[in-house]
Amino acid sequence: MADRWKCAVVGTGTVGQTHVRVLPKLPGAQLVAVCDVRPDRAKSVLEKHNAPPVPIYDDYKTMLDKERIDVVHIATPSGAHHDIAIESMKRGKHVISEKPLEIQLDRVDRMIETAAKHNVKLACVFQNRWKEENRAIKRAVDEGRFGKLSWAGSFTPWYRPDKYYEEVDWRGTWQWDGGGATMNQGVHAVDLLQWIAGPVKRVSAYAASRIHPKIETEDTMSCSLEFAGGHFGTILASTAMFPGMPARFEIAGENGTAISENGLKMYKFREARDSDAELIARLAPVDAKAAGGAQSNNAAISSDLHGNNLSDILCAWREGREAETNGVEARKAIAIVLAIYESARKRGEPVDIPA
Ligand SMILES: NC(=O)c1ccc[n+]([C@@H]2O[C@H](COP(=O)([O-])OP(=O)(O)OC[C@H]3O[C@@H](n4cnc5c(N)ncnc54)[C@H](O)[C@@H]3O)[C@@H](O)[C@H]2O)c1
Repeated sequence: MADRWKCAVVGTGTVGQTHVRVLPKLPGAQLVAVCDVRPDRAKSVLEKHNAPPVPIYDDYKTMLDKERIDVVHIATPSGAHHDIAIESMKRGKHVISEKPLEIQLDRVDRMIETAAKHNVKLACVFQNRWKEENRAIKRAVDEGRFGKLSWAGSFTPWYRPDKYYEEVDWRGTWQWDGGGATMNQGVHAVDLLQWIAGPVKRVSAYAASRIHPKIETEDTMSCSLEFAGGHFGTILASTAMFPGMPARFEIAGENGTAISENGLKMYKFREARDSDAELIARLAPVDAKAAGGAQSNNAAISSDLHGNNLSDILCAWREGREAETNGVEARKAIAIVLAIYESARKRGEPVDIPA
């Protein structure tokens, strides 16, 4: 490994662009190649973001053959992460995949096993963990400031027009999206919930497409759940709630309540600390427009959060550690989402998450 990780991006669409934009700015990284089955798109993305004029490929295997690459960033449709990851890891490359890591657990397991077998690292992008308000809430849970937890909820009340599903052929399909509002948009909320509030034991869910009749999958999902710790929870994921509201996370227990929504909306404990006031002032919620509007615009992706997540992964690897969002950790949200789908198919029947 050189001083800087040599990184290549496969898939330069909506979120792949964010990797192209962010990588040249990370001190420990270098963009060395890009690949897209539509190389014209890759070319215009490089130009649009003033990225270095790196080689462009339309086939990732050729790119792996020809370029010296340390890390492959995968930003293709969700059901197309697996093959690219496996092939890259077999050739000794580390892999960073966009969320969800994959859409089926057996395929995720194969990715994790392949990383171990070939002595390379695997990580996933879950950039909302790097929102300061979410990290502050997580810290408070770890310090036991809420006391006994009662309930936690993670909400994605978003809106996507028909065009969002029509402009590419994979969104809203079981084969390539792995689901709808839950596997695609809501997986961030699911990850936050299990990361902050602890392992989920059982889910009971309803899901359907309410306003997007042409998609195979759900545009709205509502789930009640029980955590391993005995507290309860709620997950909402939707792309059918016009005009779209910001994602929100809430948690409460015997000694406190915290809410994040475009900032730290509530952070109140029975035993307040002086530092709480400073935190609340610094992370005061900004209005939804200023916050970027992912609730109604799929292209509103924060490069700062992606940058922080990618930096954290690459720093951990340089120090020989697993990243916080490593393969095993990223698998947890997928297991929960798949249990939600099973429960929804059974009209809300409770489904246990295997430990
Ligand atoms: N972290 C986030 O907030 C975030 C946001 C949006 C999307 N995503 C995830 O990123 C992935 C991509 O989503 P998107 O909205 O950017 O999709 P997109 O359709 O906008 O872009 C996908 C790109 O991959 C290319 N592609 C497809 N198959 C390929 C292959 N085999 N080799 C090379 N290129 C290939 C397509 O031509 C396209 O340019 C999905 O898994 C999605 O869930 C994450």
